[in-house]
Amino acid sequence: MEQTLKISKIKDGTVIDHIAAGKALKVLSILKIDEKSNNYSVSIGIRVPSSKMSYKDVIKIENRNLEKFEVDKISLIAPDASISIVKDYEVTQKYTVELPARIVGIVKCHNANCITNVKEPVSSEFTLVSKKPLVIRCNFCERNMSEREILGSL
Ligand code: CTP
Ligand code: ZN
Repeated sequence: MEQTLKISKIKDGTVIDHIAAGKALKVLSILKIDEKSNNYSVSIGIRVPSSKMSYKDVIKIENRNLEKFEVDKISLIAPDASISIVKDYEVTQKYTVELPARIVGIVKCHNANCITNVKEPVSSEFTLVSKKPLVIRCNFCERNMSEREILGSL
């Protein structure tokens, strides 16, 4: 008999699946889901056995859609995550997140003197340099940011 842990299906909402094991809490934090969120039900699986990557995290959020900037942030935390939109128990749309070639307005440059940190209306803009390991470069001051720095600034 199969001995897998099943998280209940949801009726309407968003499933973020195939998150690298241990990264779900960071994803929740960028989605601003915390003890004060009282408008939707959330199920979280951390280090759930998965055939694809041996262990994975899963987040299911009832009655919530993700904005583009949120999906872009998730791609920086969990580049292999898949997003499923569920309507009346059926998956109506499913896609894998994709690291954008240009990352605009979602990461704060690590250089305190960068114009994006000094002049308020200038929004940050980075170019993707490498996916694994994750490296992005500021289009203004040309400073590279590592995965650790990126995660710390989201
Ligand atoms: N799901 C859910 N509630 C539903 C329908 C689907 O929570 N009413 C979840 C599934 O548990 C899965 C994801 O949404 O985590 C994608 O659903 P589906 O494509 O049906 O699952 P699988 O074929 O198992 O997907 P994968 O190969 O991506 O694991
Ligand atoms: Zn910069």
